[in-house]
Amino acid sequence: MNLKILPAVLQSLLLLGSSNLAEALSVTNLGQGGRQRTGINSNWRFWRTEQNSDGIIYDYRPDLVDVENAVVLKPWILPSANDFIKDPANHYEVPSTSPPISNLSFVQASLDESDWEKVTLPHDWAIAGPFYTEDDPIVGGGMGRLPVHGVGWYRRELTISKQDLDGSIYLDIDGSMSYTMVWVNEKLIGGWPYGYASFRLDLTSHLKAGDNQLAIRLDNPPDSARWYPGAGLYRSVWITKVSKLHVGQWGTFITSRDVAVDSATLDLVVDVENTSDSDRKVDVSTNVYEVDAQTGKAGKKRVAAFPKKSIEVAKGEKTSTNSSVEVKNPRLWGPLPTQAPNLYVAVTIISIEGRVLDTYETTFGIRAITYDPDQGLLVNGEHVRIQGVNEHHDLGGIGAAFNLRAAERKLEILHELGVNAIRMSHNPPARELLELTDSMGFLVIDEIFDCWELGKTDGDFHLIFSDWHEADLRNFMRRDRNHASVIAWSFGNEVTEQHNGEEGAVLAYRLHDMVRDEDPTRPGTSSMNYAKPDMPFGHAMDILSINYQGSGIRDTPNYSNLQGIRTQPLYPAFHEAFPDKMILGSETASTISTRGTFMFPVTVNSGAPVNETSGGNSTTLQVSAYELYTANFGSPPDKVWMYDDKSPFVAGEFVWTGFDYIGEPTPYYDARSSYSGIIDLAGFKKDRFYLYQSRWRPDLPMAHIIPHWNWPNRVGDITPVHVFSTADEAELFVNGESQGRIQKDEFTYRFRWDEVKYEPGNVKVKTYKNGKKWIEETIRTTGAATKLRVTADRTTVDSTGEDLAYFTVEVIDKKGIVVPTADNTIQFSVSGPADIVATDNGNPADMNAFGSLERKAFSGLALAIVRTREGKTGNVIIKAEADGLQAAVIHLRVN
Ligand SMILES: *[C@@H]1O[C@H](CO)[C@@H](O)[C@H](O)[C@H]1NC(C)=O
Ligand SMILES: *[C@@H]1O[C@H](CO)[C@@H](O)[C@H](O)[C@H]1NC(C)=O
Ligand SMILES: *[C@@H]1O[C@H](CO)[C@@H](O)[C@H](O)[C@H]1NC(C)=O
Ligand SMILES: *[C@@H]1O[C@H](CO)[C@@H](O)[C@H](O)[C@H]1NC(C)=O
Ligand SMILES: *[C@@H]1O[C@H](CO)[C@@H](O)[C@H](O)[C@H]1NC(C)=O
Ligand SMILES: *[C@@H]1O[C@H](CO)[C@@H](O)[C@H](O)[C@H]1NC(C)=O
Repeated sequence: MNLKILPAVLQSLLLLGSSNLAEALSVTNLGQGGRQRTGINSNWRFWRTEQNSDGIIYDYRPDLVDVENAVVLKPWILPSANDFIKDPANHYEVPSTSPPISNLSFVQASLDESDWEKVTLPHDWAIAGPFYTEDDPIVGGGMGRLPVHGVGWYRRELTISKQDLDGSIYLDIDGSMSYTMVWVNEKLIGGWPYGYASFRLDLTSHLKAGDNQLAIRLDNPPDSARWYPGAGLYRSVWITKVSKLHVGQWGTFITSRDVAVDSATLDLVVDVENTSDSDRKVDVSTNVYEVDAQTGKAGKKRVAAFPKKSIEVAKGEKTSTNSSVEVKNPRLWGPLPTQAPNLYVAVTIISIEGRVLDTYETTFGIRAITYDPDQGLLVNGEHVRIQGVNEHHDLGGIGAAFNLRAAERKLEILHELGVNAIRMSHNPPARELLELTDSMGFLVIDEIFDCWELGKTDGDFHLIFSDWHEADLRNFMRRDRNHASVIAWSFGNEVTEQHNGEEGAVLAYRLHDMVRDEDPTRPGTSSMNYAKPDMPFGHAMDILSINYQGSGIRDTPNYSNLQGIRTQPLYPAFHEAFPDKMILGSETASTISTRGTFMFPVTVNSGAPVNETSGGNSTTLQVSAYELYTANFGSPPDKVWMYDDKSPFVAGEFVWTGFDYIGEPTPYYDARSSYSGIIDLAGFKKDRFYLYQSRWRPDLPMAHIIPHWNWPNRVGDITPVHVFSTADEAELFVNGESQGRIQKDEFTYRFRWDEVKYEPGNVKVKTYKNGKKWIEETIRTTGAATKLRVTADRTTVDSTGEDLAYFTVEVIDKKGIVVPTADNTIQFSVSGPADIVATDNGNPADMNAFGSLERKAFSGLALAIVRTREGKTGNVIIKAEADGLQAAVIHLRVN
């Protein structure tokens, strides 16, 4: 068991228990506290087929119409939703017959699985590739050209003791893509179609003492999303053993109110579940402890105790009890850098006559958030401007398979950028990611759906919306409702229903009512890229999430030749139409670029849609990094900020996107990954990183010069120089000659010298702020590439089998300066107890599989991701070699 705390009070309770009770309710074998949660991520066998070969389908789907003699299993899956459907009249009935399939070898213990792959979870079967490079492949650029489709089976044994069977045993799946069906000992026991859901199945009555055969079937349509969904058991899987009377799944909800410096009131609801065969009277008590920010562990000192409640729990029922308590001098949770992400843990104990039956921990924060229509977001009374990014769930070269260190690294880079908020676009993230945003102090908009009844792709969620939307929505909110970082629920992104006037709004109201019902303390919203201030859709929202419309869509001259909707900047009109609703930009910019790539001529405007003569090249699949070119519905950062600054009531923005992600490679669908990131897929900073940093960290002395200065074929040609800086005045020098001293005017956010003629040498900028010297920066024409340099994000890692180290290879000249155009082919090798699991370079057009040990540098850089082996410690040596260049070696210590 993995409790943060086992208070002395609990241990004394354990000693008091009467032994016959203990037997009846089986707590002795569950250890102190009465709850065991064990990861079952190892020892799986995996097999995949592209074609449906077993005839099993959840339901008819456009990609499955040709399956012969199909057996539809939906009636046996639907009852898994019942716990999350409020009206019992709408519960799905468990079919009285067994599914009409017989002798299915995949679910039998006798199956010879010796040729199945051994895998450890989290596992993404598609990420190894190879990428489809042909025209019109089965999985196209939108979904990352990777083999996500088809049927995957995962099998594993579960060993259960006789004592375990006296309690309840649950299978908890954090994420499985998708149409999951679970068999235990040849019996289909349930499943869950939506691939982003975390869900629980009760195994108790299907298990026997000894070995049990678990078999899980997944089935992915080839067109389920507009981006890379991943494939497989891509998040952790757990077995939870509890006594028959226990806190239900996600069975606590803690909220804070009347938050002040000297006190706050906490409200707690606990759901107690009884699967035993008799009615019981149980005691429910909950103590609150501080979480130590350094160790992440609960402190010893109890800061509050909720009044103990005694309740009757009828057999087979779930019963809720609530109570409230005041906390003195609370340490409040708030976002960095101005506040601190202080957390508390509530330890709930279910007991009968002093005998502890269950101990359940809930981590939460105490904070007060105001969603002010005129000022934006107030956190604990302080105005916090949202400096946010959108993030998809993939982790670059390791795909959708969740990894804690990979997620933490992303957040560290975003923190350096000045980000304080993340929109989980457009689906529920891994649970652990929200634990990181809680403890690292980020605000979160937690989002669940990219579509409702009207789909965006043939195989997306619209196929199952009517059966599953309520269960998915309530399940998602109950999972995430105690996270301090979550400030709003988004129950839709750019849904097609926003076009449908009243009819669309009716559905929005229905979903919004469920959001309100599950959590009356946080606002619900659904992002609008089309609905206008005079349309009904916005009325169904507590706060307005505006995608792109705030700063206008195709409204400036450079965009006038494009097809599509044209929208004037709408923040003021929304504010006027909805004076009581806070407004934020839930997607902004969609500026696109590839790191370190520059094309000429450069638009003199503040932005332009990318095309063949303007910032883009459809042969090389590259987009210029002057950070002025956008998707045809987008705007450069500079334009977004102008409208933000003209509309101070706007709470802030979530940029599309923080990191590049796999799939949706607008504008070049021959590529594999997106162009919209401020940071590329490998985690390398694009030039845009510094443009955003100059706005989001105004006190940081920084200046960043673009482009690089290696242009042997441009001598004498106009080569504009732009500088991203926190300064307000700057003077540029090329080989010592001034190009002019300029000031940032109102509503301009970069320094530009658009008439500079290229000559090799150096470019220097001297900057000033409030008339005083601020910072200087110089870039130089480099020499030829002569060697490699390797650096690591960390020098010691843990032998957990999950911990990662990220190695950056730079191609450098003899002075040690990165050669910005280098594309040498690099060979990686590793010796010692670790493995290279992926390499990358951030180039969206690189079709070399992520697992390859050979990787071309892109704009001078390449990356290798190294994973430790479980329980294997020692020294690891990583080597990078390239023809004609001096190799580089680095050591890593695995503890
Ligand atoms: C069940 O399938 C196995 C192979 O998976 C086969 O050997 C056996 O004969 C089958 N039994 C029946 C009753 O069909
Ligand atoms: C617990 O559930 C069982 C049936 O599963 C039932 O017989 C018993 O009355 C319930 N007790 C309580 C307290 O809910
Ligand atoms: C518990 O919930 C009930 C019903 O919602 C409410 O009336 C009561 O005030 C709550 N009690 C506490 C202590 O919060
Ligand atoms: C490319 O974009 C520029 C600037 O927006 C525009 O003037 C030009 O007409 C566009 N070219 C094409 C082929 O659309
Ligand atoms: C964008 O439009 C402006 C006029 O607003 C024009 O001067 C400029 O050349 C255009 N840029 C491009 C790349 O066509
Ligand atoms: C795109 O790149 C290719 C290959 O480098 C080059 O031949 C072509 O001229 C470029 N196209 C444009 C429009 O610059």
